[in-house]
Amino acid sequence: MPVLTIASSKGGPGKTTVAMLLAGSLAAEGRKVVALDADPTQAFSRWAANAYEGPTFETHAESDETRLAYLIDSKAGEADIVIVDTAGFGNRSAAVAMTSADAVLVPTLSGEADVTEAEKTVRLAEGLARAARREIPTAVLLNKVRRTQLARHAAHEIQVAGLPRLEASLSDLVAYGELSYSGRIPQIGPAVIEIAGLLAELRERGWLPR
Ligand SMILES: Nc1ncnc2c1ncn2[C@@H]1O[C@H](COP(=O)(O)OP(=O)(O)OP(=O)(O)O)[C@@H](O)[C@H]1O
Ligand SMILES: [Mg+2]
Repeated sequence: MPVLTIASSKGGPGKTTVAMLLAGSLAAEGRKVVALDADPTQAFSRWAANAYEGPTFETHAESDETRLAYLIDSKAGEADIVIVDTAGFGNRSAAVAMTSADAVLVPTLSGEADVTEAEKTVRLAEGLARAARREIPTAVLLNKVRRTQLARHAAHEIQVAGLPRLEASLSDLVAYGELSYSGRIPQIGPAVIEIAGLLAELRERGWLPR
């Protein structure tokens, strides 16, 4: 079943937050979710073990690239969806997770350096796809969006660079920031609508089970 890798060469654009939102939301739908935490800092795994409050899902912390490759393969056969959170710096486990993915999601903030790094990550995914002689669909997700000129500019720069981008985006919301402590997937407010929009678009693309 689909393996969705969340990656970016830049630290802090929201990879782990997006992984939390997707894993928690899909588990709440009754899907068999396996989350693989390939980041040696293990932020996702600690959250899943200590903070998360919701229907359970399986989590494995594995930053060793060889073991990760085998783990992705074995879990892909068992789960409805495998979500891989990766580390925010160029490392081999992130490349393994991208190469093994059915799709790669690249969260980005709106700054110039952020969009530049998002482009690098998309180009890496494209290169890995070529080397593997198969398609690895990839898209940028604008995160922590504020309704400002900057976010519009970022969307424009992404378009000019020819990077595939999701129509869905996530706003800069306290509900997302609090998630790492509260462990609850937002149930009220604008975040609910955004998360539903993100899930719908990913599903539309075939990146999530229907
Ligand atoms: N849409 C958002 N609104 C508000 N806060 C957010 C949002 N997305 C992420 N954050 C916060 O921004 C910080 C960085 O997010 P996160 O840890 O998910 O990024 P990351 O890409 O996983 O970072 P790293 O590269 O270090 O793994 C966290 O404190 C998180 O709570
Ligand atoms: Mg992270």
